[in-house]
Amino acid sequence: MTSVFFLFPWIQREMEIFILLSTLLLLSRPSLADTNEILGLQCSGSDNATLENQYQINLNNLQDSLAANGPVHNGFYTATAGKDAYMIFGLTQCRGDISPTDCATCIRNSTMVRGCSTSKNVTIWLKWCLLRYSNISFFGVWDQSAMALTNDTNFEDSNVVSKGLNFMNELAATAPEPPLMFQTAVLDVGPSGKRYGMAQCSRDISRSDCGKCFSYLLVTFRTTIGNKRGWEIYGASCSMWYHDYQFYFNFSIPVNEGAVQISNERVAIGLMIPVLVFLLSSL
Ligand SMILES: *[C@@H]1O[C@H](CO)[C@@H](O)[C@H](O)[C@H]1NC(C)=O
Ligand SMILES: *[C@@H]1O[C@H](CO)[C@@H](O)[C@H](O)[C@H]1NC(C)=O
Ligand SMILES: *[C@@H]1O[C@H](CO)[C@@H](O)[C@H](O)[C@H]1NC(C)=O
Ligand SMILES: *[C@@H]1O[C@H](CO)[C@@H](O)[C@H](O)[C@H]1NC(C)=O
Ligand SMILES: *[C@@H]1O[C@H](CO)[C@@H](O)[C@H](O)[C@H]1NC(C)=O
Ligand SMILES: *[C@@H]1O[C@H](CO)[C@@H](O)[C@H](O)[C@H]1NC(C)=O
Repeated sequence: MTSVFFLFPWIQREMEIFILLSTLLLLSRPSLADTNEILGLQCSGSDNATLENQYQINLNNLQDSLAANGPVHNGFYTATAGKDAYMIFGLTQCRGDISPTDCATCIRNSTMVRGCSTSKNVTIWLKWCLLRYSNISFFGVWDQSAMALTNDTNFEDSNVVSKGLNFMNELAATAPEPPLMFQTAVLDVGPSGKRYGMAQCSRDISRSDCGKCFSYLLVTFRTTIGNKRGWEIYGASCSMWYHDYQFYFNFSIPVNEGAVQISNERVAIGLMIPVLVFLLSSL
């Protein structure tokens, strides 16, 4: 079973909420590096975005700008379009290991995801990139919305559980430091193989908030991920990944800090049907 755990603080504040998950086949790839897919959307309720022609025009311009500029700015870009009541703020970010070409396709694809088209406040997660836009500026603000994906029955070896968590906590502490606030790391757990970690912050937030954002994810989803052999947490402001195979691409992996130890092992993870679990009780 794959479970998806949501923590959207937003839910508390706004009545009209529309969360939609598309094809979710996460953790289902037996290949070394993963392929892209749409993971989920978060949006405000219907707030007349489609009724406002000027808003739509501005949104198209915004998306064009993000798609054109994101890939050539190390996979991160913010832009605005329009003015006054129709002003839109947009942000895009690609995963740090994704090539500019794949980044461009991912951003372009993210702009074509349907399901939130009547909303003004939208976050779209694909595996390789993120798209956010809103009629209110959110740049530089740490947003705690996040979802965790894991295979419920794929448990971590008991002697690796705490090593794995320590490993990810260390990554959470160091990943805010590199210029792109993106880092990968490899943990050698002897007979149990290797563990691969990756962490990335949205580049608009401060290093300090980046560190807090990672810690927040690890604490908040502790019970979900704690004993799992593979998991991914996607947030609006930061994301973390943990697997027992190298799921990220080789290129643009930082050459420092021991990040480039490669495992030849291939670990097949079976195809799975997603189950959605809304973790509202913890809000
Ligand atoms: C990374 O490079 C190593 C060594 O060339 C190779 O064995 C491995 O399959 C590559 N991994 C990915 C994800 O491309
Ligand atoms: C953003 O859009 C919502 C929904 O249409 C609207 O209620 C709100 O006033 C807008 N905010 C700004 C700053 O334009
Ligand atoms: C949406 O449009 C309708 C009709 O123009 C209006 O009554 C309503 O207040 C609008 N809702 C928002 C959230 O702007
Ligand atoms: C983009 O979407 C097309 C059409 O659905 C798909 O074939 C392609 O693999 C996608 N690419 C990425 C990087 O998401
Ligand atoms: C949009 O959603 C985010 C949560 O993702 C929330 O923090 C923010 O207040 C919402 N409203 C606007 C208009 O940005
Ligand atoms: C989850 O992981 C377990 C253990 O590796 C595996 O046997 C199972 O097939 C996976 N679940 C699904 C639904 O694929």
